Amino acid sequence: MTDTTTIDTEAPVTPAKTPPVVRLPKPVQGVLLAGFRRWFLRNALKRYGPVFAINVPFFGRSVVVSDPALARRVFLASTDDLINVQPNLSRVFGSGSVFALDHKEHRVRRKLLAPPFHGQSIKNYEKVIEEETLRETSTWPEGREFPTLEPMNRITLNVILRTVFGADGSELDYLREIIPPWAKLASRMATLPEPPFRTGRYSPWGRMAEFRRNFDRVVFALIEKAEADPRLEDRTDILALLLRSRYEDGTPMSHQEISDELLTLLGAGHETTASTLGWAFERLRRHPGVLAELVKENDEGGSEFRQATIVELQRNRTVIDFAGRHVSAPYFDLGEWRIPHGYTVMISIGNVHANAEAFPAPERFDPNRFVGTRTPTAWVPFGGGTRRCIGAAFANVEMDVVLRTVLRHFVIETDDAPEEKIHFRGIAFTPKDGGLVTVHRR
Ligand code: HEM
Repeated sequence: MTDTTTIDTEAPVTPAKTPPVVRLPKPVQGVLLAGFRRWFLRNALKRYGPVFAINVPFFGRSVVVSDPALARRVFLASTDDLINVQPNLSRVFGSGSVFALDHKEHRVRRKLLAPPFHGQSIKNYEKVIEEETLRETSTWPEGREFPTLEPMNRITLNVILRTVFGADGSELDYLREIIPPWAKLASRMATLPEPPFRTGRYSPWGRMAEFRRNFDRVVFALIEKAEADPRLEDRTDILALLLRSRYEDGTPMSHQEISDELLTLLGAGHETTASTLGWAFERLRRHPGVLAELVKENDEGGSEFRQATIVELQRNRTVIDFAGRHVSAPYFDLGEWRIPHGYTVMISIGNVHANAEAFPAPERFDPNRFVGTRTPTAWVPFGGGTRRCIGAAFANVEMDVVLRTVLRHFVIETDDAPEEKIHFRGIAFTPKDGGLVTVHRR
């Protein structure tokens, strides 16, 4: 892990121009970024413009980018100039995670992980997604308001577990039980500096370590079972794929590396999608015209408007407001700005999505803005460049199938309830009341 406090922030910089600096004490900026991110970044954008510098614990001196064209330049920058943000989520997933890798190792791992996240493989998951949606919604109450966020989390966790491990079984039941409380804790801890002293068994760090021991125990057992499986060569699940993979020198990935990568996919792959689906219900309840159009199209077997709705959801209620890079070159020039070595570059995805030139009347939830057009390059809910979310197509199909299945079986009540507030869970932004809806079976 890079110690960001070692960056020589006092070193003289000879830039073309340095970005304007938010002048607040570092701890205050840290609290604002951690607890009031949307409000902080939106107000700083208004005051300082689309590129400004902050100084926060954990990420150190950072430049926040809110302009769509400049964000694109960051995403497309050479990996010789910008590497993954330091520290990053490999803190919670482990050093075998794709988040920990850069340069050639990153390219090799991405290539290895690509097959299950493309084309036909994703098409094959549709059945699993539909099954899990029907299973979860079979117990939904009728005529009584309930939150959809937790049910959506259960669906997406079950889907990713089955995709990663191929089959169902008692081990998966155990993982199903331990992952949700871990995910909640890990989200809160992801950007908390580690204390310099030893922490107890019942401290959050102790609980994280205990989870990791339990997770590895189960995954190592599943790995051994898979290694003994005579059908391993034919299996298409991600565990089998990682087990069959070889580095250039012919060595296989270690069990610990495989466990780290599987945890990465389970962790990165379910809450994000579930949070967007929670927002779908929150939005549809308050937008009867959009809902009516979706139902009509669904009944007629179409999908274009549903796709536009998913794109608009991810813009209007962006769940991950952060894609980060670390300047590893002596400096990085971004438009008129020069960003020194050692700085973090943060793309504020929420601010990019609220850009009125790219998305007129950005506050309005209106899927029609994406009907019959190509998605603009300013739409970046999955980040971009070589680190663009590996699960983007997977998440899209998952959201599509869940919505399609729910709309086929349920009528969603609409009303003019006030919008749910945006709640920050540490990594994802979710509807504060959990995406409350009232439904009836059709
Ligand atoms: C709506 C759902 C999702 C959203 C909004 C989302 C968003 C993101 C974002 C913003 C990034 C950072 C990209 C960058 O730095 O440029 C990312 C990376 C990543 N996501 Fe997702 N994601 C979603 C679903 C998924 C799913 C379903 C999976 C896996 C099954 C997944 C796995 C990953 C991985 C492994 C990375 C790291 C990629 C790398 O560093 O090379 N995500 N995601």
